[in-house]
Amino acid sequence: MNIILFGPPGAGKGTQAEIICQKLGIPTVSTGAVLREAMKNGTPTGLKAKQYVEAGELVPDAVVTAIIKDRLSEPDCANGYILDGFPRTIPQAEALDAMGVKIDAVLSIELSDEEIVNRLSNRRLCGVCGASYHLLYNPTKDNVHCDKCGGELITRKDDDPKVVMNRLDTYHSQTEPLKAFYNAKGLVKTVSGSETIPEITRRILAELGI
Ligand code: AP5
Repeated sequence: MNIILFGPPGAGKGTQAEIICQKLGIPTVSTGAVLREAMKNGTPTGLKAKQYVEAGELVPDAVVTAIIKDRLSEPDCANGYILDGFPRTIPQAEALDAMGVKIDAVLSIELSDEEIVNRLSNRRLCGVCGASYHLLYNPTKDNVHCDKCGGELITRKDDDPKVVMNRLDTYHSQTEPLKAFYNAKGLVKTVSGSETIPEITRRILAELGI
């Protein structure tokens, strides 16, 4: 099954992807996570992406499309995958079609801009393994270290409120139009992002008929 998790920044795509990929036994492919890793390691892709990510703008289509093309050709993607954060523009969706990828469902997690700003101000990431937490809604045991690997928690640079506003603008102008693109193909299933994490998982699985 090839699934797209769609929605604004901070809607809970990464959180749900991590849970659902374990239930379905397929990998999550997150362009945001790949770009953050590349930036951390100072690779050529990371150096190209840094200015865009930190300003809350989209990395050029050619860069992210190349990442996806490479990643989807790996053996663990043979039985399906969850795309988290890709595609984000119409040209990216067209590039996916051109790769011959057949999408089974686009799950759109919906959340208001106000709730997003509030959520992202309390998000923390593990600086070592990248696991994502929330100080109030998804805390670690001490809200200082990661429960999975013990690494220290950090704040993403692009979770700065000014950058979040820019990410929201970018989402509304460049990414939201994709909903109509996939609606026309009858693939979009909508889930409220305001519920608890387990309730959203339950609704997503129900939408997938699982
Ligand atoms: P990316 O990493 O994809 O960021 P995003 O789409 O902005 O999404 P987030 O990771 O911020 O949020 P999320 O929806 O995954 O929410 P999460 O589960 O963490 O991209 C970052 C940047 O990379 C982009 O801005 C762009 O520059 C670049 N990029 C990436 N892909 C690209 C592409 N295809 N093209 C071009 N550029 C690209 O949840 C958020 C918080 O809320 C967490 O703290 C979580 O614990 C908490 N939470 C989750 N669910 C709930 C709930 N139900 N109730 C309460 N709290 C919850």
